[in-house]
Amino acid sequence: MLESLAEIRDDMAQRLQEGATNRKSALHSPVVATTDADARVMVLRAFDRVGWRLRFHTDARSPKCAMIGDGAPVGVLFYDREAKLQIRCRGRGWIERDTPLADAAWQESTNFARRCYLGEGPGAVSDSPTSGLPPQFEGVEPTDAELEPARENFAALLVELETADWFSLAHTGHRRAQIDLASGEGQWLAP
Ligand SMILES: Cc1cc2nc3c(=O)[nH]c(=O)nc-3n(C[C@H](O)[C@H](O)[C@H](O)COP(=O)(O)O)c2cc1C
Repeated sequence: MLESLAEIRDDMAQRLQEGATNRKSALHSPVVATTDADARVMVLRAFDRVGWRLRFHTDARSPKCAMIGDGAPVGVLFYDREAKLQIRCRGRGWIERDTPLADAAWQESTNFARRCYLGEGPGAVSDSPTSGLPPQFEGVEPTDAELEPARENFAALLVELETADWFSLAHTGHRRAQIDLASGEGQWLAP
């Protein structure tokens, strides 16, 4: 049982680190919410404890990129069923496309992952069920040269978390706390 806000903050940092690095972690695929009342699952690619910064990869043509732009409020919801834990974060997000950070994120992706950016943009309407990929790349890993046109569709979404609402389920009584992540200040709440 975590007994102090400081312990909770440290525990959240460890869990986010694990979420970014362990594909089997429940925190690897949070829900990312935008101000248009839309929300979607995204894979957490990196977590930087200094600055509480999350990195996601996405298609620059997707609606969420237009919504987030250069600093919109973003919600990130983590749920670990086994740990009986909900972490509900608010922060600011921004999209990077042509920066060293986006280049590095592209470099660290596999060609299979990069393939997603070769096709139609997310939400493009089709007459029939479609992957959106050009037919020659269905089930096929493209070469580096074939992936060149995909790079401009790739973007990194960065989210700097500001607050966390931590909720722990327990038979003995649930616990809830709100924490300002930068300062560590916060308060206990009735769940
Ligand atoms: C398990 C899972 C993981 C996903 N991971 C990502 C991701 O890392 N990046 C992403 O842009 N979309 C991801 N998606 C798709 C999004 O949930 C969403 O459908 C897509 O990004 C559409 O963009 P929009 O939300 O801007 O309309 C994932 C979907 C699922 C089911």
